[in-house]
Amino acid sequence: MKVDSLSFHHFRNLCDGELQASDGVNVIWGDNAQGKTNLLEAIWLFTGSRSFRGAKDAELLSFSKKDAALTLSFTAQNREQIAKITISPNKQVSLNGVSMGTVSAMAGVFCAVVFAPCHLSLIQDGPAERRRFLDAAICQVKPSYHGLLTEYNRTLLQRNTLLKDMAYHSELSSTMEIWEEHLSRIGGRIQEIRRRYLYRLSPAVKEVYEGLAGGNEQLTLSYLPGGHNEPVSLEGKEAPVFKDLLLQNLRLRRREDMLAGSTSVGPHRDDLLFSINGFSARTYGSQGQQRSVVLACKLSEASLLREVTGEQPVALLDDVLSELDPRRQDFVLNHIKGWQVFITCCDPKQTERLAAGRSFEMKNGVLRPAE
Ligand SMILES: Nc1ncnc2c1ncn2[C@@H]1O[C@H](COP(=O)(O)OP(=O)(O)OP(=O)(O)O)[C@@H](O)[C@H]1O
Ligand SMILES: [Mg+2]
Repeated sequence: MKVDSLSFHHFRNLCDGELQASDGVNVIWGDNAQGKTNLLEAIWLFTGSRSFRGAKDAELLSFSKKDAALTLSFTAQNREQIAKITISPNKQVSLNGVSMGTVSAMAGVFCAVVFAPCHLSLIQDGPAERRRFLDAAICQVKPSYHGLLTEYNRTLLQRNTLLKDMAYHSELSSTMEIWEEHLSRIGGRIQEIRRRYLYRLSPAVKEVYEGLAGGNEQLTLSYLPGGHNEPVSLEGKEAPVFKDLLLQNLRLRRREDMLAGSTSVGPHRDDLLFSINGFSARTYGSQGQQRSVVLACKLSEASLLREVTGEQPVALLDDVLSELDPRRQDFVLNHIKGWQVFITCCDPKQTERLAAGRSFEMKNGVLRPAE
């Protein structure tokens, strides 16, 4: 997977311009608030995922403009392709001249992994952030997963509505049985896919983290499905039958859920736990340790994506080196050798140790190739 060029028009503070990318390392440097992260965000949107900053579509338009456009020329499976995203204010995408509708159609077509400072929320915030990471990562290796999530959310909404209606109409309990079976079938499938993904991701995350930390620290990743009391093992291939457990739990908790008016078990309550030498990284980890855990997840996500699709995804690394000590910085720079990388920083000296590629200065939304 390789970005050949990106052109932009009225995207955030990027007025009109083009980036001709190197196959190797592309350094984008400049002062704060110049548009470096905006550029990475523009490339990221072509993966079909939402903005990694959680921005709404309308926020992507340059202030007071009504339309924005991004055009990406990229090479995937040895084929040159062109995708175009228009924002006015909703996003629409076309691929090789054919309209594809919503941008999620790009999942699995253009693949990238992104690390940005806001991703520390993966450790620091609540479980929703960790589910978001997991779902975005799985969608890229298994695009049909997106449809499963949509169907699950729709069915969950049905159960929640029914929970409220049942307070007045007890005769609805047989309808509830049907919805719960459906919900547990889809929910169980989602949990099984998540566990299988984590089973493959976990050894790589451990290895990268331990490399970053210099072998003094051990990282453990566990999966806690919503409604289970104990994390599920990611060591062996054995897994519980999620569907049966979920159905059991839904029936068991129905009364409580009726009082609360919402469903308390299922994949929408799943969580991931990270611990360093047996202690929660969220509660006890230092800034550098938390940053390293997130980086380990992102770099491993890239390796797994390559393993599954046969293509190395593009790496978008936003301000990745700050807060890492020089040894950890060296590990990251070594690890990404041979990948196509877009890396931002304030001081281009930070990335001097990277193999030659191209360097661009971003100033007030204008991108200039640097000497
Ligand atoms: N929709 C928008 N229209 C116009 N400008 C915007 C829009 N959204 C954000 N900006 C502006 O883009 C500028 C740069 O944003 P960006 O996050 O890319 O900076 P950066 O170069 O990554 O800075 P830092 O080094 O601080 O991370 C900000 O000044 C912000 O006000
Ligand atoms: Mg930035």
